[in-house]
Amino acid sequence: MRGKLVAGNWKMNGSLASSQALLKAILPPLATLGRARYVVCAPYPHLATLAPALRGSSVALGAQDLCEFEDGAYTGGVSGAMLADCGCRYVIVGHSERRSVFAESDETVALKHAQALKHGLTPILCVGEQLAEREAGVTESVIARQLDAVVRRGGLEALGRGVVAYEPVWAIGTGKTATPEQAQAAHAFIRGRVAGSDRRLAEGLTILYGGSVKAGNAAQLFAMPDVDGGLIGGASLVPDEFVAICRAAQGAQEAIRI
Ligand code: 13P
Repeated sequence: MRGKLVAGNWKMNGSLASSQALLKAILPPLATLGRARYVVCAPYPHLATLAPALRGSSVALGAQDLCEFEDGAYTGGVSGAMLADCGCRYVIVGHSERRSVFAESDETVALKHAQALKHGLTPILCVGEQLAEREAGVTESVIARQLDAVVRRGGLEALGRGVVAYEPVWAIGTGKTATPEQAQAAHAFIRGRVAGSDRRLAEGLTILYGGSVKAGNAAQLFAMPDVDGGLIGGASLVPDEFVAICRAAQGAQEAIRI
């Protein structure tokens, strides 16, 4: 059975002191929750300092990006090996902000995905359409194109070794959450597309929803059959909100088991 997973994406926010304070606030309540999985994706310079606090806890450390190349002459790059060495277990690849602000192509994202797997990290592959694409009715073809780039490079098996996050760009940081039905439709499309080639792999694939998830809407989203948790931006910076979202994931997980 797929478990629920909640990942916080702190983006480019905070100081080392505020990141440490955030962890200090969320770790004790999360330790009391059950078996859902929790991840925090912190800024690069904070990773090595935060790692010891997370060791042995129920929360895994993640990064927000990695370089598409191996170590070497890539000034400013951060390799998968470096992230693993810092204690990371997850890394976000292809976030829409990387795709749009930093002009990352589907192919670059696929290379990053491969690097993450090569170094034992679980990639959280973000896919999702812009508002204009949704309005033009091409949501599914955009998602398919983004998924296919990864499958072309690493095979379906590579996709299955990671996590997919559906993040409609129009819902990110806007307060405009996709409705549970809209999220479910996109997630079912993703799972169905994978199932077309490998039903078992599709069944086991964790697909997160991201885009203005808050404590107030998490439970409805996580109750959808193909929504396996969330990738949380703004609300992951607010301890009470993040813990409440994790609690909603835990509740949804328990509901599945009954
Ligand atoms: P918000 O939750 O702030 O909308 O951000 C979502 C996101 O981009 C997570 O990666």
